[in-house]
Amino acid sequence: MSNMVGIDLGTSTSEIAVLKDGKPYVIPNHLGEYITPSVVGLSADGRIIVGKEARDQLLLKPDDTVIEVKRLMGSGTTVFMGGKEYTPQQISAFILSYLVDCARKYLGEDIDRAVITVPAYFSDTQRRATVEAGKLAGIKVGRIVNEPTAAALDYGIDHMRECQNILIYDLGGGTLDVTVLEMFEGVLDVKASCGSNRLGGKDFDQRLMDYLLSRFATRYNLDVSGDKRALMRLKDAVEKCKIALSDQEEYHLLIPFFAKVGENPVSLEEIVSRETFESLIEELIESTAKQINTALSDAGLTASDIDLILLVGGSTRIPYVRSFIERTLGKVPQSLIDPDLAVVRGASVQVGILDNQLSSEQDIVITDVCPYTLGTSVLEYIGGFPVSDAYDVIIPRNVTIPVVKEKIYGTAADNQTVVEINVYQGEFKKASHNNFLGKFMLKGIPPAPAFQEKIAISFSYDVNGILQVEGRIVSTEKKVSLAIETTGVEMVSEVDTEGWDKASGARKYKAIIKKAGRMLETGEAQYYAIEMESLIRKIKTGLVRGDEPEIIDALKEELHEIIYELTEGKDV
Ligand SMILES: Nc1ncnc2c1ncn2[C@@H]1O[C@H](COP(=O)(O)OP(=O)(O)OP(=O)(O)O)[C@@H](O)[C@H]1O
Ligand SMILES: [Mg+2]
Repeated sequence: MSNMVGIDLGTSTSEIAVLKDGKPYVIPNHLGEYITPSVVGLSADGRIIVGKEARDQLLLKPDDTVIEVKRLMGSGTTVFMGGKEYTPQQISAFILSYLVDCARKYLGEDIDRAVITVPAYFSDTQRRATVEAGKLAGIKVGRIVNEPTAAALDYGIDHMRECQNILIYDLGGGTLDVTVLEMFEGVLDVKASCGSNRLGGKDFDQRLMDYLLSRFATRYNLDVSGDKRALMRLKDAVEKCKIALSDQEEYHLLIPFFAKVGENPVSLEEIVSRETFESLIEELIESTAKQINTALSDAGLTASDIDLILLVGGSTRIPYVRSFIERTLGKVPQSLIDPDLAVVRGASVQVGILDNQLSSEQDIVITDVCPYTLGTSVLEYIGGFPVSDAYDVIIPRNVTIPVVKEKIYGTAADNQTVVEINVYQGEFKKASHNNFLGKFMLKGIPPAPAFQEKIAISFSYDVNGILQVEGRIVSTEKKVSLAIETTGVEMVSEVDTEGWDKASGARKYKAIIKKAGRMLETGEAQYYAIEMESLIRKIKTGLVRGDEPEIIDALKEELHEIIYELTEGKDV
């Protein structure tokens, strides 16, 4: 018999679950553990290893081990493992294969389909990359489900009769999602989702690392930021320290033989207090008030309308996160679901919905939203002059999915026979400032005076969060459609951008890249995070490659405009 499973493919950890007799069961891996580190490595004898085994070799063999690959999904960047290049999809596929293999052996049944969860705020490209990872692992992805929505399903299946407004705050290793939903009589109606693909426990670790490194540098007048092995050891130690500080007030951090001062090995030793740690991460946590407020206002609710707060993700164990939520929403968050396993359990409930495995008492219905604005570029006439690069919204953010929307445009010039349809995701007024998803040509428009021929552009956004675009010439009914593929994303992967700041001419870009990086870190980049990241990458690539200064300046100008718009002109 073939089976479908639910998989939470996380930045730091991954889990797999199955639904049996209407109940979710998390399946242990080969080591008997429910939580598998999302780490892939190449063993000494050339085997691909996944999970704890890979995690254990990380410190000794950082070049043969890949961590946190989820952050690169759909980015066009590749990673190296054992000197060989892999796409993030391939690395993710190793994790999926491992989990599925554990489940096959545990259940003694074949598994060929899976529901895989992704952050609600994952883009179209990142979702497609996730589907591709499933394919590479030989698994058909039955559905992509948003992580907070899955967590809501886990809660909902046991509380079918409740009616209330719920806010889910999901802070994991690499991503933040805030989702607001209304629950009534077995219907879970997601109203809005807002988040950041670049905020999570990993960033807290980084803050603590920077702090310790700078103290070490001052004490010994030694910069170890180029020593990969030392950094990996430190990363490992700071995560342990961070986790310990969730339960205790102080932590004694000790890394023996951390570095050499002259000929003498020195240790890194510090007593880190919870207070110090909180002062380092405070700004990042507080910045998430923005996502909370946007999700609430998009849902048409205020904090006082929320009846129940559910916390998901390992990072919500940090006491400061809990007190921040309580302060911001004026309500104590409840521990009614398991922050580590709610997502995967909910994924298995989704399996039940898809496969009709739920009983009539468990007749749960779930709706979700598209958290992004999607649109196309149009030629706009302002004061009689054509202005290109105007962005026209077709699907506004936080509409319920699946959704199909169509808009009609007129031809811009006399006897125009071809129109180029560009598809973007983002909130900017200028199309090119948004995240470019793909384009196609619609040819064969009958020659006619401008505006006479009409072009219909329709966007359909499905339950998996995947977009299909269709262009149609109204008079002839001719259609062209575009399924946006991950391969459509620019590949800038071949260029290693490390050391970009030492490239010639890099000086004048340092300040803006630093500013943009900071905005990404604190979540200030909001909806523009993907655009900003892409611009930063392009600038660095250009510098390393020695591109023409004019090209790099144009990119800098674009980045400048984004920052200007985000800070309402207050910064830069
Ligand atoms: N007790 C704790 N206190 C503080 N942080 C913790 C604790 N336990 C786990 N974490 C952190 O939580 C993060 C992992 O959480 P989780 O497993 O929910 O994330 P993930 O699902 O891998 O990531 P994402 O959902 O962002 O893709 C790590 O950064 C880890 O250090
Ligand atoms: Mg997670």
